[in-house]
Amino acid sequence: MPTTATGWGTEAADQPLKPMTIERRDLRPDDVAIKITYSGICHSDLHVCRNDWGGSRYPVVPGHEIVGTVTAVGDEVTRHRVGDTVAVGCMVDSCMECDQCLEGWEVFCRKGCVQTYNSKDYHDGTVSKGGYTDHIVVRDHFVLKVPEGMDVSRVAPLLCAGITTYSPLRQYDVGEGTRMAVVGLGGLGHMGVKLGAAMGAHVTVITTTPGKGEDARKLGAHDVIISTDAEQMKAAATRFDFILNTVPVSHEIDGYLNLLGRSGRMIIVGALTPMPGFVGVNLILWNRAVGGSAIGGIPETQEMLDFCAAKNIYPDVETIRMDQVNEAYERLLKNDVRYRFVIDMGSMEAAA
Ligand SMILES: NC(=O)c1ccc[n+]([C@@H]2O[C@H](COP(=O)([O-])OP(=O)(O)OC[C@H]3O[C@@H](n4cnc5c(N)ncnc54)[C@H](OP(=O)(O)O)[C@@H]3O)[C@@H](O)[C@H]2O)c1
Ligand SMILES: [Zn+2]
Ligand SMILES: [Zn+2]
Repeated sequence: MPTTATGWGTEAADQPLKPMTIERRDLRPDDVAIKITYSGICHSDLHVCRNDWGGSRYPVVPGHEIVGTVTAVGDEVTRHRVGDTVAVGCMVDSCMECDQCLEGWEVFCRKGCVQTYNSKDYHDGTVSKGGYTDHIVVRDHFVLKVPEGMDVSRVAPLLCAGITTYSPLRQYDVGEGTRMAVVGLGGLGHMGVKLGAAMGAHVTVITTTPGKGEDARKLGAHDVIISTDAEQMKAAATRFDFILNTVPVSHEIDGYLNLLGRSGRMIIVGALTPMPGFVGVNLILWNRAVGGSAIGGIPETQEMLDFCAAKNIYPDVETIRMDQVNEAYERLLKNDVRYRFVIDMGSMEAAA
């Protein structure tokens, strides 16, 4: 018999999140059942709840930054045991046979990976429901090991904000001597700062919020630019080798392209919707490039968790109760989060 999970989700784009019950499937032989202890709030959760990208399947139960404890495993599972502390990110299944899956890039599975929420299960066609719930059932390959000794109350945001920023830094060899900038100091951006600094880069934060300057330095940034200050932007022309752009909405990029030096590259991870055009000469002069990056594969996600454990890197979190989620969404829209909300899932039991 499938089990009932309690959680929070939304029935429509213009509705707040509210308590709801959902079904979790019986364990398949390669499944792991997890009691969720903490769930991070990613800006993507808000985008999907409000159908900003189209294609939301209601009810939407979001959450793809999940940490918890294994409560049961299917017959064929050998990598995880009951009692293990584990984590789940943005994907819960993929074909595991195509070239992308075999190379550890499950996110680009040719069959289409099954995302943690709002995605159709391959086997039964049900729509996946994410981490704002008390438990979840996930195929073993997509369950990450939380390294021993980590503070579980701060691990969840690594599963999306962490890997989405770690992956492009690794793909483009950011390290000692790289002059790097992070645009947008939010959940992703603040992880980009911490990870870039830990890899040895010289990190500059480019922010629209002057009040975040001091924080940026505390997080590990060496310099700060206020993007609304034309003089500061002009003075920074050609300064960077690499720019990680986390702005969550469509925006002009010419101003940022001008900050790239010779063969510099800007990677967009935030905006998924159509962007305004840019001026070709801003790419051609200085041999600049613009690209994108989507989360990261499962092996790289484990590598990122191990890196963070070894270097003692954690997100800065504000822990909230489940019933504060709607308020948290409104604050996210106002850039008022320092720097990731994490829901203590125990708060649902306490409230019951
Ligand atoms: N590529 C992927 O696989 C992937 C994975 C996860 C998330 N995402 C996407 O990445 C984006 C960022 O997510 P997040 O959770 O980090 O969001 P967030 O916490 O809201 O942070 C975004 C930051 O961008 C800046 N910003 C906001 N609106 C802006 C605007 N109009 N112009 C310039 N800067 C603006 C703000 O920083 P300042 O105050 O410093 O300006 C804000 O704190 C979202 O769109 C999310 O869906 C993509
Ligand atoms: Zn996310
Ligand atoms: Zn595949």
